[in-house]
Amino acid sequence: MSSVPEIFDTLSYGPAPEDASAVREWLAAHADGFRLFIGGQWRASHGRDPRISCLNPANGQVLSSLTQSCAQDLDDAVACAQAAFASWSKSGYERARVLYALGRLIQKHSRFFAVLESLDNGKPIRETRDLDVPLAARHFTYHAGWAQLVRRELPDYEPLGVVGQIIPWNFPLLMLAWKVAPALATGNCVVLKPAEDTSLSALFFASLCADAGVPPGVVNILTGDGRVGELIVKHPGIAKIAFTGSTEVGRLIRRSTAGTGKSLTLELGGKSPFVVLEDADLDAAVEGLIDAIWFNQGQVCCAGSRLIVEEGVLASLVSKIKTRLTHMRIGDPLDKAIDMGALITPAHRQRVQRFVELAQAQGATVWQPEIPLPRQGAFYPPTLLTDVSPANIVWREEVFGPVLATTSFRTLQEAVELANNTRYGLAATLYTENINRALELAVKLKAGVVWINTTNQLDAACGFGGIRESGFGREGGLEGMLDYLRERDAWITGPVAGATDNDAAQQPQARLARAGRMLADALSVETPGTTRAAAPGGVIDRTFKNYIGGKQTRPDGGLSLPIKDARGDLAGWVACGNRKDVRDAVEAAFRAERWSGATTHLRSQILFYFGENLALRREELTDNLRRLTGGKAKECRTEVNTAIARLFAYGGWADKYDGLIHTPPVRSISLAVPEPIGVIGVVCPDEAPLLGFISLLAPVIAMGNRCVITPSERMPLPALDLCQVMETSDVPAGVVNIVTGDRNELTETLAQHDQVDCVWYFGTKEDSAQVERWAAPTVKRTWVSHGRRRDWLSERHGEGRAFLRQATQVKNIWLPYGDFS
Ligand code: NAI
Repeated sequence: MSSVPEIFDTLSYGPAPEDASAVREWLAAHADGFRLFIGGQWRASHGRDPRISCLNPANGQVLSSLTQSCAQDLDDAVACAQAAFASWSKSGYERARVLYALGRLIQKHSRFFAVLESLDNGKPIRETRDLDVPLAARHFTYHAGWAQLVRRELPDYEPLGVVGQIIPWNFPLLMLAWKVAPALATGNCVVLKPAEDTSLSALFFASLCADAGVPPGVVNILTGDGRVGELIVKHPGIAKIAFTGSTEVGRLIRRSTAGTGKSLTLELGGKSPFVVLEDADLDAAVEGLIDAIWFNQGQVCCAGSRLIVEEGVLASLVSKIKTRLTHMRIGDPLDKAIDMGALITPAHRQRVQRFVELAQAQGATVWQPEIPLPRQGAFYPPTLLTDVSPANIVWREEVFGPVLATTSFRTLQEAVELANNTRYGLAATLYTENINRALELAVKLKAGVVWINTTNQLDAACGFGGIRESGFGREGGLEGMLDYLRERDAWITGPVAGATDNDAAQQPQARLARAGRMLADALSVETPGTTRAAAPGGVIDRTFKNYIGGKQTRPDGGLSLPIKDARGDLAGWVACGNRKDVRDAVEAAFRAERWSGATTHLRSQILFYFGENLALRREELTDNLRRLTGGKAKECRTEVNTAIARLFAYGGWADKYDGLIHTPPVRSISLAVPEPIGVIGVVCPDEAPLLGFISLLAPVIAMGNRCVITPSERMPLPALDLCQVMETSDVPAGVVNIVTGDRNELTETLAQHDQVDCVWYFGTKEDSAQVERWAAPTVKRTWVSHGRRRDWLSERHGEGRAFLRQATQVKNIWLPYGDFS
């Protein structure tokens, strides 16, 4: 027995194991394994696949076994969910009551959940007890409030139906809560598949559903491996897929949902930077790092895995990190005094080890503290890598383990470049005592979440989610709610204008043949450059080039296409743009980045000015439109007038579509800022050639995006008429780039381009599907019409928040406060 002075001297902890008897009894009662939770009942599978063993990662012991679900089980679950939907989606109060009860039941069984999660996942009980379980409860109680308020606060939205949810193994209960709570609050029913390695907390949650009053069929839990996930993704009765997991599987899901009209949110991998400035509180930064990369053994999608330190403090920070790591305790996850538990599987431990070996071979210096590791189980020591170059594998790839890669910087500009030099964009952390620098950096870091002087803070009120290859969509907050809803009556179904030539005629061969025919026709009427006058009194040149980087540029291929008016006469010539033209346009848009940092006041002024200048040409535009479309004078005038009004509307919105300030229940505020997405490729519909173009262009640029826009393929002239107007309205060069030509070729290049961050596509169902497929490799955000139309003349459906939401991505910036009270 140590004496008291000795204890003070060594400050060593004794073992403090949590009592696991209740959980072990529950597991013993399910010794023959778990069934599926479908329609409020526990059902055996229709299939005959072998069962899946649940193993304790800390010692390899078998805890129980799970059912591998089959297609028929999924059909049953979807049928039950569909049957439950009608009444579940009706009463907000009923849903609020049930969600609140679920939150309370999680709290009531918090110790049970904490132990179960720790046993099943290998994470320390300290974390499950203090973070996973309380946050899961908070998600249910927070969303109980939304259930009550959603219809009143978001009257233009409605639930989707049955939602398929696929979650990973790193936060099994918390991910369930992130998925199930907002889905239920908005009136949807769910079919959820937990990860095959960690399904036990989801099954215990299912067993509480009846007590909470969840009606049968509202929550269905199907266990199994990735094959069950695939079935869920492909099921025609499912209206939305919400996925958290690897970027690789995210890409597969994007491909297989393409064209189905399923709503999709993807929360994928990350390689998040952790930036430390010279003036930071270094001790606080070290504690931050412990939470950033050694929390949950580094198996966190938003883990701060790339440490970027200002050169002057690199040596002292590294020394402090090493000292701190030598005091880490690794061992039995059920021991309350343990800092790090086991990795999820021995195979994953080997993968982490391979990353470290490769990093070393590529020049990194590896340091691990000399601390005892349990002999059994998938344990891996906290690892610090220094001298890591940006080309090193650990700087680029997600390790998903307790491995920190370090580098240094000299200027803040360099820090930003290093931090943003990744294909991911989930989270970023920065430590500095200078609030001005902190906020400037927070804006410049490309990530969905930024933590200032804190890290890995999560709350139900604050949206979480990434950009780039970290996925799209948000979980938590208002943004998260909207991802489980759809606009009510916003789309008109039925044939799209021009659909007659959309099927066979839309194939590339057919398109070229059509272009050739048009050219031949036109040549028999006029020669390029001297087309018939639009107005009586003379011949005017109606030959348009592309509009790239603020200049009229000749198409790369040197080809022009004739455009006919409503009577079949030649109305003008437009550039037949190709891939090279699109790439030039993207480059110009990419370089016009200053627009994204311009003040909202400036953007607003320019849109008003654009509207005013358009108004000066009201009569001419109306006449041109009339001649082209053959529409009635009144209709054409209405289209022009609405286009002018729309520019004014977005001039108004530019400095009014603000963010929110959240007050999570920790000493922090979180600023939810709608940021521009970056470069958006916009493919306009054929109908309403002027108004459709303006209705898409205006929200894109109002929110600070730059765009490459391809106007109506059949009637591009009204859009091209606007180039001059934009120039005189001070729209900076490169902010709007217009490329005309074969719609399919232009769209393909846009959707596949690395520097295009998002694509809006308004056209046929088939082409919409193709856009979603093309966007899959880069996990690009898309907004496609699936062959439907919007009523461009309507203020409610042709403009407003729905468009602004598609033109922005919300960044949540966390700012802790409180130092002296
Ligand atoms: P994973 O992406 O394969 O698994 C996540 C979930 O998707 C599981 O429920 C799995 O059964 C399911 N799934 C697998 N294949 C599927 C498919 N084709 N269609 C539908 N669902 C499918 O991730 P895994 O293999 O567990 O981990 C691999 C790596 O992924 C990790 O090392 C880490 O880098 C990353 N990862 C990222 C996570 C995050 O939170 N962003 C979570 C888990 C893993």
